[in-house]
Amino acid sequence: MAVEICENFDIKNLTTFKTGGLIERVCFPKNIEEFFSIKPPYKVFGNLSNTLVSSSGYDGTIVLTSKMDNITSVGTSITAGCGVKGPKLSQFAASKGLSGLEFMIGFPGSVGGEIFMNASANGQCISDCVKSVTLFCPEKGVFKLSRDEMEFEYRKSICQRKNFIVLEVEFELSEDDTEKINDRMKKNLEFRKSHQPSLSLPNCGSIFKNPEGDSAGRLLDEVGAKSMNVGGAKVWENHANFIVNPGGGSSLDILKLMCMMKDKVREKFEINLYPEVLYLGNRNEEEENLCKILYQK
Ligand code: EPU
Repeated sequence: MAVEICENFDIKNLTTFKTGGLIERVCFPKNIEEFFSIKPPYKVFGNLSNTLVSSSGYDGTIVLTSKMDNITSVGTSITAGCGVKGPKLSQFAASKGLSGLEFMIGFPGSVGGEIFMNASANGQCISDCVKSVTLFCPEKGVFKLSRDEMEFEYRKSICQRKNFIVLEVEFELSEDDTEKINDRMKKNLEFRKSHQPSLSLPNCGSIFKNPEGDSAGRLLDEVGAKSMNVGGAKVWENHANFIVNPGGGSSLDILKLMCMMKDKVREKFEINLYPEVLYLGNRNEEEENLCKILYQK
């Protein structure tokens, strides 16, 4: 089967932030063979749940791996394609009586993105139960790295440093009672619902990474971020490290708001918050300058 390709594709409704414009070419491979039929150069994303897409779109090719969502198990091991989303992974593991992935039940992202940034919640991170990751890069082709070789840290993996693309992940889990697993999944979901905005309120998860030993949410709360807004985007009233976009704010609105948040924390605490959210797409001069301020280390 030929890979599905859409040209001049309006990406807005595929992003959880509900921002974005026309993308020159979007490819939706369903498996590794289709993935390899796509001609570089391209940028790869999973479910665009951690990405702010430019309202003026992107002149280039992006690959969305959300349809590469095959999942299998042998004994206590599960192998998931990079496009498998958190809830499907959690529920599949639970159905096999396997524990370790309960915390991913409410994650909007896909396995590839979650490995890329070593997603975590409630004291657990995805790297805890990774056995190996099958990766791709043009220079090396397809290869496998063990958990130790993945250089996992808080919100970090080797993929960011080396531009590796995640194709498939093998998890090693432990056997447990399905009822206990379901109970933990339920608690995690309840925590998420009561602490974080649901996707019916467009958002992109946490905006900034937590600085070492502190919480971006707490720092932002202390500088009064909960009353900040720009255009259709505003800081969520229940947690200062989330931006919600109910008014259809543009990427420029959101970048401006992120800069205001970052500035206030730097002024008061001399702490440089670094975004967890990625930026994709075209930038005018103003957006270029805001991105420089936001993403400088
Ligand atoms: N806090 C405030 N005011 C706020 C928000 C938070 O004072 O407006 C305080 C809380 O009271 C708490 C502390 O800050 O004492 C930490 O807040 P929270 O428990 O909400 O956790 P977090 O550090 O903000 C992290 C992850 C989340 C993950 C949760 C749950 C980061 C950047 N975020 O949030 O991940 O779900 O822990 O474990 O590490 C994501 O990455 O998109 C994400 C949602």
